[in-house]
Amino acid sequence: MKLTVEVWRQESPADAGRWERHEVDDAASHLSLLDLLDLLNDQIAAAGGEPVAYESDCREGACGACGVTVNGVPHGPVPRTPSCRQHLRSFDGATRLRIEPLRSAAFPVVRDLVIDRSALDALVTAGGHVAINSGTASDAEALPIGHDDAETALDFAACIGCGACVAACPNGAAHLFAGAKLAHLAMLPQPALERGRRARAIVDELEQRFGPCSTYGECAEVCPAGISLAAVAAVHREGIRAWWRGRDD
Ligand code: SF4
Ligand code: FES
Repeated sequence: MKLTVEVWRQESPADAGRWERHEVDDAASHLSLLDLLDLLNDQIAAAGGEPVAYESDCREGACGACGVTVNGVPHGPVPRTPSCRQHLRSFDGATRLRIEPLRSAAFPVVRDLVIDRSALDALVTAGGHVAINSGTASDAEALPIGHDDAETALDFAACIGCGACVAACPNGAAHLFAGAKLAHLAMLPQPALERGRRARAIVDELEQRFGPCSTYGECAEVCPAGISLAAVAAVHREGIRAWWRGRDD
């Protein structure tokens, strides 16, 4: 299959950036987006050019590093699927792909398709660690957690920190990400002991670094981990709870 690939090139955060157009002749339908970028880079390097910078690690949907926007959609056309698991056969016969970084004011472009997601790290850092003596491994068995609570907490913990929710949001809000962290920890007995402190710190950081949530819902549409809008509700619930109690728990 012959594909026209328009890819974003930007040398540094200060560079204005530009689109670069390439023709790729052997783009087989089973290739993933990252395979396509590898193929493109081989072609660019063979012609003496500078390969396109992009990030990846696991290439199996676990790490969140690979996110790019394809034809205007963060990650690509297949729902609940990160960029590394999107395959060309899913692009519905498209002969032209525009690949650009996940764009948001909170995510400066470092180079080409690589963005700086440290604003998300700052939310996690603000939440802090859980400073509780949890005993030995066998003590963990003695702390019962209801099956439904454990399953729901794990669903929220599935967030891979890709940042697609922020890029999809017209306001650049990170409520889906922040809510996933707050909700999964609030549901488990030991992290719940620091629930109020964590909520105050994360909500403060969220308001400083990201836009406000207007409940557009675009974030959940593009989330590869299937985090639902219940996470957004969790931000508001946890924030109000912490404010109302005025305590650290
Ligand atoms: S909530 Fe979803 S879209 Fe947002 S960072 Fe987590 S996995 Fe990515
Ligand atoms: S490379 Fe890890 S999620 Fe895509």
